[in-house]
Amino acid sequence: MTTSNDFFVIKALEDGVNVIGLTRGTDTRFHHSEKLDRNEVMIAQFTEHTSAVKVRGNAHIQTSHGDMINNEED
Ligand code: TRP
Repeated sequence: MTTSNDFFVIKALEDGVNVIGLTRGTDTRFHHSEKLDRNEVMIAQFTEHTSAVKVRGNAHIQTSHGDMINNEED
């Protein structure tokens, strides 16, 4: 089972933040795109289907590895 118990949290700091799930396995492709508006929070895990996540836009991202603010200026 490749689902980890860890959750990661993404809080949108602007409208239209995209959280894109990328597939696990030999083929790495987009399989899900979630659009968050300002102050919306998504709580998710890595699963047998999802091995990576791409976040586009200004957002606060929290994982077990740390905390970061994804900002246009950075
Ligand atoms: N059905 C997807 C899965 O089980 C849902 C999902 C889990 C997801 N984590 C995600 C989608 C992270 C986007 C980003 O893998």
